[in-house]
Amino acid sequence: MTLTPSPLLRFSHVNKHFRVNGQPLEAIRDFSLHVACGEFVAIVGSSGCGKSTLLRLLIGLDREFDGRIELEGRPADRSTRDCAIVFQEHRLFPWLTVTQNIALGLAAQPLEAAERDRRIVEFIERVGLSAFSQAYPHQLSGGMAQRVAIARGLVARPRVLLLDEPFAALDALTRQQLQDELLSLRGKASLTAVLVTHDVEEAIYLADRVVVMAPRPGRIKRIVTIDLPHPRQRGSFEFHQLREQLLHELTREGPYEPPGRDLIRDLPALYIAC
Ligand SMILES: Nc1ncnc2c1ncn2[C@@H]1O[C@H](COP(=O)(O)OP(=O)(O)OP(=O)(O)O)[C@@H](O)[C@H]1O
Ligand SMILES: [Mg+2]
Repeated sequence: MTLTPSPLLRFSHVNKHFRVNGQPLEAIRDFSLHVACGEFVAIVGSSGCGKSTLLRLLIGLDREFDGRIELEGRPADRSTRDCAIVFQEHRLFPWLTVTQNIALGLAAQPLEAAERDRRIVEFIERVGLSAFSQAYPHQLSGGMAQRVAIARGLVARPRVLLLDEPFAALDALTRQQLQDELLSLRGKASLTAVLVTHDVEEAIYLADRVVVMAPRPGRIKRIVTIDLPHPRQRGSFEFHQLREQLLHELTREGPYEPPGRDLIRDLPALYIAC
């Protein structure tokens, strides 16, 4: 994929403190990251290392921080229309149908009724829910409800899609299906995406770069580029090696020493020799 050199999204020296019981809590320290137009970046890190806080700062849900967060050179919180966010739990309104829930994604857009309806139908189709357009959330499975949430996020054609552990509550098979759908939607809509996830495999499967966070205070420990071609093979040697590297970065100190390909290839022979 060709990336434009200028970043679409830019975090520069972001620091964030909370006050908890009157005491300061340093949640994020000196977070700097540039995300290019069309890039897919994943952020992984242990619970409490500030991943959701970063997304909240980015969309202006919390404006108290030091440093700068910019979208195309403008403070990001003033361009919230350019960003959409999908959370771990779908947050659909139970009294609205699939169509009505997705329509909420267009609430801030001055569109003609016909164009609005056309756009909603298009996105219901894209996430494979045409047969359920008039269903209510309680009539959907968890994976279907999450697809509605993704469609609601994408229907306004945001420049940046933010995903905060969007598939964490789903079973492994549904999660893999939605990951593939996300990749295909990304291709069609030339999206820039920032995904927060606990799942290292998900990050390697989807992202161009993975940002590994260290906890207390949350800060960048390492940024790993994933230059495997799509569709990525979860069972491949390269995939396995990246998974080992990221797990090492998440859980251990010190540099990662990759195992030699030769050693792994020769393992059966070694076992036989024993
Ligand atoms: N509104 C708040 N008030 C006080 N402290 C907060 C607030 N929001 C988050 N924190 C603290 O900031 C830190 C980062 O929280 P955050 O929710 O960003 O973590 P996270 O990486 O998303 O964790 P998880 O993976 O569990 O979702 C935590 O220590 C948390 O307790
Ligand atoms: Mg979180």
